[in-house]
Amino acid sequence: MPLETGAGLRYLRPMQAITLPRPDDWHLHLRDGAMLQAVLPETARHFARAIIMPNLVPPVVTLADATAYRERILAALPGEMGFDPLMTLYLTEGTDPADVERAAASGLVKAVKLYPVGATTNSHSGVRDLAKVMPVLERMAAIGLPLCTHGEVTDPEVDIFDREAVFIDTVLDPLRRRLPELRVVMEHITTEEGAAYAAEGGENLAATITTHHLIINRNHILAGGIRPHYYCLPVAKREKHRLALRRAATSGSPRYFLGTDSAPHVDALKEHACGCAGCFTATNTLSLLAHVFEEEGALDRLEGFASRNGPAFYRLPVNAGEIRLEKRAEPCVWPAKIVSDTGPVTVFDPGFPVYWHVLP
Ligand code: NCD
Ligand code: ZN
Repeated sequence: MPLETGAGLRYLRPMQAITLPRPDDWHLHLRDGAMLQAVLPETARHFARAIIMPNLVPPVVTLADATAYRERILAALPGEMGFDPLMTLYLTEGTDPADVERAAASGLVKAVKLYPVGATTNSHSGVRDLAKVMPVLERMAAIGLPLCTHGEVTDPEVDIFDREAVFIDTVLDPLRRRLPELRVVMEHITTEEGAAYAAEGGENLAATITTHHLIINRNHILAGGIRPHYYCLPVAKREKHRLALRRAATSGSPRYFLGTDSAPHVDALKEHACGCAGCFTATNTLSLLAHVFEEEGALDRLEGFASRNGPAFYRLPVNAGEIRLEKRAEPCVWPAKIVSDTGPVTVFDPGFPVYWHVLP
């Protein structure tokens, strides 16, 4: 049907379209309470499943904690939306290997998350001494339960831009040599070293890549004024690393898949003298990814990255439903902020127009 506009005749027919199996988000922060209520629909609208990060206060440590949190997520889900939260346990030095094994057997818990103490938001209950959690890791290796790693050392002597590369050399590689059967996901890689290590790791290793790390480098955070809504952890690195991540994500390799790390914080805590880390991308991630993959000439590989590689690693079926994206002449319009009862949350602004619309 022709559409009359000031600029002349245009057509509603999309310029281009892609259909994907319904995607999953393999790294997501949903929080709890009023924030959970506000942000959950943003993910459930497009994604069938997500790996739910356990860094609540207090953290989700046991099977009982994860079961209760999952119930709260399902209770917050709008009735018409289908969504399967895949739960994780927060690894502490007190974690009981038997509880982890029960959690895996329950089918509700799909991974255990390693936060080095002090690495990021709510990581104070994390691991200081890997030796203390070795019995848990050995059990996980034996039963095939993946370990999701926040891969940054926290030694104050190590520059924040080097913390991922140093983690790989001093923590991850020694761990994987000691426990080659352990299945590991390098969460939200931000460096060419991370991408290269994941590429060579074999079947027991994978890496998630966020949407925002494909779009911003550290200049976006720091040049021409400090932009708190681009601050997240691991912090965005130099341009050469962003380009390496783009090559990895669009390479077609099954080792890489989407984990948005969408991490809502209210504006008052982002725009603050000591601002929280986290970018909120749940609302526009799929449109942004289509834009990035098209720029890289790899639209045909978005399906692997967003819909297939993750389930393959986690040994789950690809989702049955589909989602369609259309490239149109008019740019997408998203809300600048999501309103929650605890305050507004700013939606990630890529800084350029995006024309890939996700069909309702
Ligand atoms: C996350 C959060 O806010 O929980 N923040 C972030 O910058 N990514 C924690 C994390 O995944 O590091
Ligand atoms: Zn995260």
